[in-house]
Amino acid sequence: MAHMAQVSQSSQVAEGAGTAGAADPAGSAGSAGLPKGFRSAELAWPRLDLIPHPPRRLPLIGDVLGANVRTPVQDSMRIGSSLGPIFRRKAFGKEIVFVWGAELAAELADESRFAKHVGLGVANLRPVAGDGLFTAYNNEPNWQLAHDILAPGFSRDAMAGYHPLMLDVARQLTDRWDARESAGRSVDVPGDMTKLTLETIARTGFGHDFGSFERSRPHPFVTAMVGTLSYAQRRNVVPPALAPLLLRGATRRNAADMAYLNRTVDDVVAARRAAPGPGEGDLLDRMLEVAHPDTGERLSAENIRRQVITFLVAGHETTSGALSFALHYLSRSPEVLARAQAEVDAVWGDAAEPAYEQVAKLRYLRRVLDESLRLWPTAPGFSRQALHDTTIGGTHPVRAGGWALVLATLLHRDPAAWGERPEEFDPDRFAPSAVRARPAHVFKPFGTGARACIGRQFALHEATLVLGLLLRRYDLHADPGYRLRVAERLTLMPEGLTLRLTRRAAAA
Ligand code: HEM
Repeated sequence: MAHMAQVSQSSQVAEGAGTAGAADPAGSAGSAGLPKGFRSAELAWPRLDLIPHPPRRLPLIGDVLGANVRTPVQDSMRIGSSLGPIFRRKAFGKEIVFVWGAELAAELADESRFAKHVGLGVANLRPVAGDGLFTAYNNEPNWQLAHDILAPGFSRDAMAGYHPLMLDVARQLTDRWDARESAGRSVDVPGDMTKLTLETIARTGFGHDFGSFERSRPHPFVTAMVGTLSYAQRRNVVPPALAPLLLRGATRRNAADMAYLNRTVDDVVAARRAAPGPGEGDLLDRMLEVAHPDTGERLSAENIRRQVITFLVAGHETTSGALSFALHYLSRSPEVLARAQAEVDAVWGDAAEPAYEQVAKLRYLRRVLDESLRLWPTAPGFSRQALHDTTIGGTHPVRAGGWALVLATLLHRDPAAWGERPEEFDPDRFAPSAVRARPAHVFKPFGTGARACIGRQFALHEATLVLGLLLRRYDLHADPGYRLRVAERLTLMPEGLTLRLTRRAAAA
């Protein structure tokens, strides 16, 4: 933690403004319509000419030929594979440097030279998530305060406390899937995984029940969240000067979505404040009751609102995608499925429900999850900014405050780290000997450094537990006509994925 404070102080460029300036507590967009914190690459990469860009760049509008506004990540993957480990893309005057080569990404992971950059999609979420943990600028005091107060909510003990609640929610899922199976109907994987992960974070973190499994349609909270994430993504690809015109309707809808998210969160907080007696000891209690151990400071009411939204969104959307991709690959890989099922049967035996410690023992299933997150890291990238003038790869100078987006989807496919067939799904890439043989910093689904994901263990425990329960109970049958389509809304999600199930004979 001390390190993070040091990062803030040593940063030579104030964050939160187009070029320099104070952090933006209101979280509004910059005057030109760009997210605050956005610095076009030409301001900070003096030898931009050494970084390749797509051919056929057009004056004024840039590299937009062939670009699909709905799939910016997959476009960048295609472009990056042909341009190499560092490349740039420009759209309407905004130039972005992308990095995916293993060696360059390892340099960007060096916390003595680089730190998180709140840019692009992350900065676009500031109007709703403000200085919540995910969207806070490094130098905002509320980051450190909230981090120190909330980190114990992810300790081993805390996780063991969430385990029974996670099991309750998983039971709702298997009830639903049993009914679909008996009716001979397939299941909507991303839809049901989203119900599961939203209920899980809401109940474990906030003692709140959204009743997702009783609904046929997504909870309005999810609809509003997806709207806000999609809007944040669109803001990246629409020319700022045209945004007021092109996004007029979308901006209005986004305001309504944000108002709904705020209202929901205010209701959750009000219900807890009104509840008599001692709290649940969950994340919300920490936010409301716990003072910083050293300074005695507490989170403000406004910051708590930002944190609750942050955790409800960050705590379920990416885990839902990770579970969905893993189920897709399991359903397509009969040998992997059989091996994972054999492991669950052997490790969990006849226990009606697995104990907390039995989840981490599913080593092979964890590899399946890791391999799914390798191919489709559901948070597909993260940005890093230089703390002082430096040079990466020996040839690319970058000034203090200059930043690049690490494209995890391609870093996870760099043949230098993953071999000649990186597209192949092979969980044994995560066998301990294979992991040891690889260089560091080549697998980054949870980001890196002081601002890496606080919920990593939570997500891994939840996802491994749920996959274990599902594999013990069902055989999975892919729709032979389905070809993986990946939907993008800042996060990644398999689109239109359904599976048919059959109950396993020995299922508990
Ligand atoms: C598979 C599931 C998940 C993935 C792939 C994921 C990925 C990430 C990544 C890449 C970051 C860093 C972003 C950046 O550098 O800009 C991050 C940060 C964060 N994640 Fe997760 N996450 C997952 C699950 C969760 C869960 C379950 C929670 C909460 C319960 C959570 C809460 C957060 C928060 C609060 C941050 C900001 C941390 C900080 O800056 O201090 N995430 N996550």
